Amino acid sequence: MRHSTVSFLALLFFSTTLICGILLINAKREALHTTTVTQPLSTATTTTPRLPVPRSYASVISLPSPKLKGAVSVEEAIADRRSRRTFATTPLTLAQVSQLLWSAQGITDQVGGKRAAPSAFDVYPYTVYVLARSITGLTPGLYEYLPDKQALGDMHMPNAVQQFDASKAEAVAKAAPVTFILSAAFDKGLKQMSTGTTGSTYLEGGHIGENVYLETESMKLATVVTAGGVDDVKTALNIDPAETVVYIIPIGNRAPQASPTPKTNL
Ligand SMILES: Cc1cc2nc3c(=O)[nH]c(=O)nc-3n(C[C@H](O)[C@H](O)[C@H](O)COP(=O)(O)O)c2cc1C
Repeated sequence: MRHSTVSFLALLFFSTTLICGILLINAKREALHTTTVTQPLSTATTTTPRLPVPRSYASVISLPSPKLKGAVSVEEAIADRRSRRTFATTPLTLAQVSQLLWSAQGITDQVGGKRAAPSAFDVYPYTVYVLARSITGLTPGLYEYLPDKQALGDMHMPNAVQQFDASKAEAVAKAAPVTFILSAAFDKGLKQMSTGTTGSTYLEGGHIGENVYLETESMKLATVVTAGGVDDVKTALNIDPAETVVYIIPIGNRAPQASPTPKTNL
């Protein structure tokens, strides 16, 4: 073999070894960096995140498609939004409930599955349970909103309304035709755990609540977000122990005698 060929092969061998070495060191660095950034020290090796558990339902009820145009502008809805605590006795329709649920957690991005309210790292830790007291065409009980299907899953709890009424929920929620129960799985997904986002999860409940307020205002209905009695409601309705009930949101038609809060600033 000629001298120049030997030199070339030696050079090739050393440069290949050098490049492999650099790549290996970088990979190790990256792995270390990932471990530091994404895993809290206390739980890095011990905690297994709870994965969403598919539930079984007595039946799944398809909801009417939500409308993407309303008669009220966003500015008008913000300007008129008030907590309204009195409801007419008239039932809500499934179309109204569907529209309200869509505003809370509906899928607004068919490709990526993103929802109506923002969520840190796209985790979407909230479930909306629907306590149906007086909805035309729907048996009273407890349902889970299934955003992917725009449907309700019947949680086979025929006595849910009575159980709710025996709980420490605010009186206003015991008078509404429908009540949304926002329940968060704080440990849902590794990413959520990794950034210490307990606070973020509560914030997300606020975003959902505001969406419901504005949709309710746009539909000329009445609502108020309530946090009173959340823990007791979780127990009363036998909600997944791994979840935390954050908000209870009763919604109904406005009572005819209820006068709107006078506007002083516009
Ligand atoms: C986090 C939070 C919790 C609330 N909890 C209750 C509650 O338990 N009961 C209730 O009647 N109103 C509750 N409210 C509604 C407030 O009382 C209401 O937003 C406040 O009076 C301001 O009036 P506005 O919503 O008409 O602007 C709550 C509001 C927030 C933001």
